[in-house]
Amino acid sequence: MAQADGLALQQTLLQQLRGLRRAGVTHLPPASQPTDPDLSSAQPTDAGMNASSPPATGDSQQQLDQLRDCVAACTRCRELADQRTQTVFGVGDANARVLFVGEAPGADEDRQGIPFVGRAGQLLDKIIEASQLKRSEIYICNILKCRPPGNRNPLPDEADACREYLDGQIAAVNPEYIVCWGAVAAQNLLDTTVSIGKLRGTFHEHAGAKVLCTYHPSYLLRNPSMKKKVWEDMQLLMAELGLSVN
Ligand code: URA
Repeated sequence: MAQADGLALQQTLLQQLRGLRRAGVTHLPPASQPTDPDLSSAQPTDAGMNASSPPATGDSQQQLDQLRDCVAACTRCRELADQRTQTVFGVGDANARVLFVGEAPGADEDRQGIPFVGRAGQLLDKIIEASQLKRSEIYICNILKCRPPGNRNPLPDEADACREYLDGQIAAVNPEYIVCWGAVAAQNLLDTTVSIGKLRGTFHEHAGAKVLCTYHPSYLLRNPSMKKKVWEDMQLLMAELGLSVN
């Protein structure tokens, strides 16, 4: 491995460990698989969604389970903690190649404890299907894990308080691709004030993942003509994943 690659890998690992520690994970289980020195040169044998996922060791899932417990007990944002039915942590494949980030739970998500199950979620499901993906193969979470009262936008302090949980989720899943749905997700994740209209249409980088930003499904419900832009963005992702783009 070239020295530059080694340094980049070291940086990525340190970033992931810091994210886990900030999120309350104080120890990691021992590796359950011996390290195969040839794995780094192994090529995926098919272009399916989980083609390059490591064998399921349970480690990512264990990290997520620990984080979920921290989040369920979180009272950092008094107003949100007092008003929530439950926290909405995240769902999906702990070893997903693709991680979706939304804004915050709405009323339906607060009731069910699952992200993107309301009207916006139903549209998201259609986008997932049209993109030849499966919801179960993706990891889906939000910037905030609690519903903001009246579905208002997350406050900067709330997004900051919740950030280490998101960082922990990203570190645990270690996705190749992150899709940010809407300006709140994109601007918070990438720590920018650039508009979603300017961020979309190209890949950015975060924590070693390629980040695609696009319009939020709730925005599409109000502005159906923007669906074609989201479709363009999803085609970029599909091409990266080796899925056929018609
Ligand atoms: N909107 C979001 O951003 N996230 C959800 O989970 C639901 C709606």
